[in-house]
Amino acid sequence: MFHPSKSGTFFIIINTQNNCCLSAIANVASIHHSNYFTIFATTKLRSIPMTTFPDFISSKLPGIGTSIFAIMSQLANEQKAINLSQGFPDFDCSDQLKSLVAHYMKIGHNQYAPMPGIMPLREAIAEKTQFCYSAVYDPNKEITVTAGATQALYSAITAFVKEGDEVIVFEPAYDSYVPAILLNGGTPIYGQLKGPDFKIDWDETQKMVNRNTRMIVINSPHNPTGSILSDSDMKQLEKLTNGTNIIILSDEVYEHIIFDKREHQSICRYPQLMQRSLVVSSFGKTFHTTGWKMGYVVAPENLTAEFRKVHQFVVFAVNTPIQYAITDYLKEKNAYIDLPAFYQQKRDYFNNALKSSRFKIVPSAGTYFQLLDYSNISDEKETDFAIRLTKEFKIASIPVSVFYHKMTDNKVLRFCFAKGEETMDKAAEILCRI
Ligand SMILES: Cc1ncc(COP(=O)(O)O)c(C=O)c1O
Repeated sequence: MFHPSKSGTFFIIINTQNNCCLSAIANVASIHHSNYFTIFATTKLRSIPMTTFPDFISSKLPGIGTSIFAIMSQLANEQKAINLSQGFPDFDCSDQLKSLVAHYMKIGHNQYAPMPGIMPLREAIAEKTQFCYSAVYDPNKEITVTAGATQALYSAITAFVKEGDEVIVFEPAYDSYVPAILLNGGTPIYGQLKGPDFKIDWDETQKMVNRNTRMIVINSPHNPTGSILSDSDMKQLEKLTNGTNIIILSDEVYEHIIFDKREHQSICRYPQLMQRSLVVSSFGKTFHTTGWKMGYVVAPENLTAEFRKVHQFVVFAVNTPIQYAITDYLKEKNAYIDLPAFYQQKRDYFNNALKSSRFKIVPSAGTYFQLLDYSNISDEKETDFAIRLTKEFKIASIPVSVFYHKMTDNKVLRFCFAKGEETMDKAAEILCRI
C-alpha cells in the first residue's frame, strides 16, 4: 500500500506459486496537494527466494506467537486425538437457520449491509435485550452488528484506548484482549481471579485504579474458568467506577450458557453501569454458528458513536444474508431461552462420566468449558501435560496457563463439552484411564 505521507522507496512482495517472490521496487516521489497526491513511480521487477525476505520487521506484537487454540487443534489433527481444546460445538446449527440464510441469499440480499447492521436485526437485538434484561437501547444509535465478538472487542478497545492508558484485565483472560490493548499503545494491568471459584478481588482491583485507568474488561460467564459475576460483583464494580471516567468493556458472549438456574448478571441490568459500558455478545456462541462470525455491541449513544468510527474502517459492514436470517430466527425465543438447559445437560453428562477419574472437577457455572485439575496425577507443567495427553492418550485440551501473561501454572486444563455424547463418552473413557 502506498502512503501519501513520504517520498522514498516502497517494496511490493507478491507470493507466486513456485515459492518465490517478485519484488517490485518502486522509487516513488509523492507530492501533496491538501488531500490529493500524485505518485511518480519507476518499477523494476526481479525474482528473489522467499527465504531472503528481509528481517527488518519490528513486530508490533513481539511477545505474541500463534494462538494456542490453533496449535492444539493442529496437534489434535496430526495425532488423530479427540479435540476438546478449541471452543466450538461438534454438532450443527438449526436447519431452520440454515434455510433462512439460503433463502435470503436466493432472493438477492448479497450486497453490503448498512454500516451498523440492518435495522430489522438491530430492532430484534433491542427487543431481545429488553426481554432478557429489561434494558432499553435505541436500535438507531446504540446497537451495532459486528463480525463476531472478536471484532467488536478489538474495535471497542481501539476506539477508546490511547497511548499511556491503562486497562484492567482479569487473568486468566481470553486471549484477544491484551493484543488489542498493546496494539493501541495501552498498558494491560493484570488482576488475578482467585481460586477455587475464580472470583474478582475487588479490594485488590480498587488499588489498581488510578487516573490513567481508561477501561476495565470483564467477562461473564468466563472463559476459561466457567465462573460468573454475581449481583454483588456488579455492585462492587458500580462502586469502584462511580465518579470516574472508566469505560467498561463487558464480554458477555456466553450470556445464554449459564447453569443451575442462575441468572446472567448482564451489565444491561445495571442502569448506572450501562452508561459507561459496551456490552458484547456473539451469535456464534448462542446459535452454534461460530464459523459465521456474527456478533453485536450495545452501548449508549456517545460510546456507540466512537465505536462506529472504528468499526466502519475495520469491517464496515457485516454479512448481509445472515443478518436477515438471524433477524427472523431471533423471533424463536426458545433458541436462546433453552440454551442453559441444553448445555447444563452436557456439562452434567461429561462430569458424570468422569466420576471415577483422578482428575478433580472445578465447578463450571457457565460457558461450555470444564476445568479439570490434574494435581493428583502429575506435577508436569500444564503445557507439557496437555501436549503429552494429546500425543500419548489422544485427547486434546487447553492448558489454562496460556491465559496468563506469566504462564501461571495451576495444574488445570480446559476441556470443551460442546460435543455429542459419543465424543464425550470416548473422552471420558480416556480421562478415567489416566
Ligand atoms: C470470552 C470470549 N470472547 C470472545 C470470543 C470471540 O467470539 P466470536 O467467535 O464471536 O468472535 C470468544 C470465543 O471463543 C470467547 O470465548
